[in-house]
Amino acid sequence: MSGGATEFAKSAELFNSSIATWAVSAAWDIGLFEALTEADEIDIPWYAKTEEMDEPSLRYLLRALSYADVVQVDADRVTRGATFGEFAQSKGLFQWLTKGYGSLFQRMGEVVYDKHRTGDYVRRDSTAVSIACRDANDVFMDAAFTEVLDGLDFSVAADLGCGSGERLIQLAKRDPSVTCVGLDIAAGAIEVGTAAVAANGLQDRVTLVRGDARRLGEYEAFKDVELMTSFLMGHDFWPREQCVELFRGIRTQLPNLKHFVLCDTHRNADDETPDLPLFTMGFETAHALMGQYIPTREEWYSVFEESGWKCVKQHVYSTPANTVIFQLERADSE
Ligand SMILES: C[S@@+](CC[C@H](N)C(=O)[O-])C[C@H]1O[C@@H](n2cnc3c(N)ncnc32)[C@H](O)[C@@H]1O
Repeated sequence: MSGGATEFAKSAELFNSSIATWAVSAAWDIGLFEALTEADEIDIPWYAKTEEMDEPSLRYLLRALSYADVVQVDADRVTRGATFGEFAQSKGLFQWLTKGYGSLFQRMGEVVYDKHRTGDYVRRDSTAVSIACRDANDVFMDAAFTEVLDGLDFSVAADLGCGSGERLIQLAKRDPSVTCVGLDIAAGAIEVGTAAVAANGLQDRVTLVRGDARRLGEYEAFKDVELMTSFLMGHDFWPREQCVELFRGIRTQLPNLKHFVLCDTHRNADDETPDLPLFTMGFETAHALMGQYIPTREEWYSVFEESGWKCVKQHVYSTPANTVIFQLERADSE
């Protein structure tokens, strides 16, 4: 039996990459991206001792990272590797995959069967998803959002599927006369958000409500809203007819609403596998497993049109791929 390194080479590469994926997620947890940004090198035994870590576990975590060139290990010394900067940015998407949706992917071979897709079969970690999305927003998305905001006039803002609440915290910090209300269905997200609002001392101007954005009409707190935002959850408004009805209701039932800024990841234009960009395969597979339809960009346009909104501007992100900010205004406005 030959034990050559070329045997099962593809399998080995995939297997090792999987471990490296978890290690990138863990590297964020243990503060390694920050530590190696502040210092050019770290002494491994010293780091393990200071942080009260098991040194062999830390060393294997670092070895998995070095597989993807995130770090370089030389005896007791760890330094930044060639891809350190890239992974310091994409770490949120890795944590979305591993900690946010790890328990769903673990059950892929189960939930692919109709018989296992009944009731509340989806398991994910909403706290981890909200923290991961906060980071992805910060790294990839906030700059374009801030540009959109600069052209808008509002004093009451709402965010649907507010996750960590970070968007509303930023809006409140940006202008002390603005009040905000956020809605999220997940207890974990509201918990993370409530703690962040308190940590920023904004309890008097930022309110987070646990509830279902598809039943927005039931929540009094939203009636005075002038700016509505919703990031990375638009697909949860589907099926299409339900989405059209909700968007029409948002337009007709909120008399003060002037701007609707919707940002979501849409379906990839084709199903080719080899060139899929970062995030797309994870995003589309997870939503298929959850039974959640992901619309194409064209399907979004047709929903806007049918529900009385016009898209006056859009911003297309390169990462996360297929992600667009649609800046909407009432179709009947001047
Ligand atoms: C991918 S996260 C994005 C969070 C946040 N908007 C951001 O950009 O960081 C999607 C969020 O939408 C929430 N969500 C999903 N369906 C919802 C619904 N029907 N009503 C309210 N929130 C919902 C989830 O709980 C989750 O916090």
